[in-house]
Amino acid sequence: MPLRSKPRFLMCRPRHFAVSYRINPWMDPNSWALDGRALASSSRREWARLHQCLVDCGARIELVSPVRDVPDLVFTANAAVVLDGKALLSRFRYPQRRLEEAHFAAAFQKLRRRGVIDIVETLPQGLVLEGAGDCVWDGVRKLFWMGYGPRSDFSACNSVAGVFGAEVVALELADARFYHMDTALRPLPRGEVMYVPGAFTRKGRAVIERLVKPVDRIALAMDDALSLSANAVCVDTTIVVSGCSVGLRKTLEARGYRVLSVPLRSFLHSGGSAFCLTLRLDLRSGDLATTRPSIAA
Ligand code: ARG
Repeated sequence: MPLRSKPRFLMCRPRHFAVSYRINPWMDPNSWALDGRALASSSRREWARLHQCLVDCGARIELVSPVRDVPDLVFTANAAVVLDGKALLSRFRYPQRRLEEAHFAAAFQKLRRRGVIDIVETLPQGLVLEGAGDCVWDGVRKLFWMGYGPRSDFSACNSVAGVFGAEVVALELADARFYHMDTALRPLPRGEVMYVPGAFTRKGRAVIERLVKPVDRIALAMDDALSLSANAVCVDTTIVVSGCSVGLRKTLEARGYRVLSVPLRSFLHSGGSAFCLTLRLDLRSGDLATTRPSIAA
């Protein structure tokens, strides 16, 4: 078996995390303010557990420095699309998050100088694309699942295809609660795809059904969808998730995954969870997929 290098993630400590504006339906600055101190300290504890859990899974973590008044910088999945040593920096839809662009750009230049990333690319002017949050790599099908509409522009799919030379399946996001692709769909290392059917248009669902065999489709019920169970981090066959129903856990375990639950409730107030608090830096399009277990007939 070929040796795999350590998985590497980019994260940002939630020192300045808060909900101080509203750019998705999960965010309510007034209700955050009622309990702000307690929620902020929970967010630090929860993030530290997620960080430790990934380290325990054998991951290496790179950090972006937190910045005052840039609360969503913690959601590093939105920093860039990264594959094969290339990073395509994001441009954000909303001015509140555009403040993050310069910080992420500087962080990626640093990573490039250290040799962690080879090339840093920028989007053509005017195009909006919110990083891996809207461009989720499927290592089994060798394609990006890209979400467009609420945050990213449809035409950004051409830039992604051009920079990475990979297929991009662009699907419109149709439910404001699932405003980034990573809240709605998660390809798993053995070829299954967990997804929220109602997050897509009928046309989008038809594309998913064409590309993913029935046996590999894990349609999430609304309770798991609203716990953002699709927003899971995978390290080999371990799935790290904030909330997950007994039924979903059983389904995943029956398919050979280890499911680790790390509650990230304070981040749910911002519409985020495990996947969006991380950005995988070491994905390679040529990596072999995790082999399926043999199924006894
Ligand atoms: N409050 C942030 C926003 O609305 C949350 C981002 C979560 N990131 C993600 N990739 N889903 O932009």
